[in-house]
Amino acid sequence: MQIPTKKVIVIGATSGIGRKLAELYAEKGYMVGITGRRKDLLDEIQKHYPSLIETECFDVTEKKNIEHLVALIKKLGGLDILIYSSGIGEPSKELNWQLDKLTVETNVNGFVEVVNWSFNYFIKQNHGSLVVISSIASHRGNSWAPAYSASKAFQSNYFEGLHMKAGRMKKNISVTCIEPGFVDTKMAKGNKIFWTVPVLKAAKQIIDAIEKKKKRVYISKRWWLIAKLIKLFPYWFLKKLG
Ligand SMILES: NC(=O)c1ccc[n+]([C@@H]2O[C@H](COP(=O)([O-])OP(=O)(O)OC[C@H]3O[C@@H](n4cnc5c(N)ncnc54)[C@H](OP(=O)(O)O)[C@@H]3O)[C@@H](O)[C@H]2O)c1
Repeated sequence: MQIPTKKVIVIGATSGIGRKLAELYAEKGYMVGITGRRKDLLDEIQKHYPSLIETECFDVTEKKNIEHLVALIKKLGGLDILIYSSGIGEPSKELNWQLDKLTVETNVNGFVEVVNWSFNYFIKQNHGSLVVISSIASHRGNSWAPAYSASKAFQSNYFEGLHMKAGRMKKNISVTCIEPGFVDTKMAKGNKIFWTVPVLKAAKQIIDAIEKKKKRVYISKRWWLIAKLIKLFPYWFLKKLG
């Protein structure tokens, strides 16, 4: 009996972590659906894997996320893994409202609409893996980008809830929250970055975590220590850091 080809969708795959995940999955022979706002980049990636990659160009802050998702699932012929990697994380030094609004629309509203729908899709078909690229920034507030850290706290917290829900429903659904420290993409900027992981290494660790159906994974593993420490920091100390 032939084993059916697995189908994965990466929301936010035109660059960075999402793009590398899409390329690695295509190299493994998966059918891959990729999304993003930049159509030229989607087409460029698709050209490298014409028989394995399908595209759907859309902005997660607009009103048609589910229509696009359904269209992409149709092109792939099903869905086994959904990864939400779309995100923005610009510094908001002047507490710019437009930037904070866009951060919430992308990292919270777009995220929750896509993963809520996908979780219910997986419940109906009784299998699937749901994944988000959250951040180590989810653990505490920061003055550099308050909306970003708050949006990542929402993602990590929401995923903890979904993990409990899937377990309680006794469904064959894995729910994996990825929390990178710094990965070498255009998003990782500033002079205070350290322990930066190359994007290929990060993507390989993420795929391994999905295959092992992990609940929460730090990229790289050593960021586990920072996650634990930062929770213990008293507020006065955190304030000094930033
Ligand atoms: N790099 C790091 O150090 C780091 C650390 C912790 C967490 N993360 C998280 O990892 C995820 C991926 O980030 P990255 O580092 O790979 O950055 P990236 O290269 O900037 O990738 C972001 C992706 O999100 C998509 N995107 C952004 N806004 C969108 C929108 N409104 N609609 C649809 N797609 C949108 C972009 O596609 P288009 O521009 O084509 O739409 C792009 O494909 C983010 O959620 C980020 O918070 C990154």
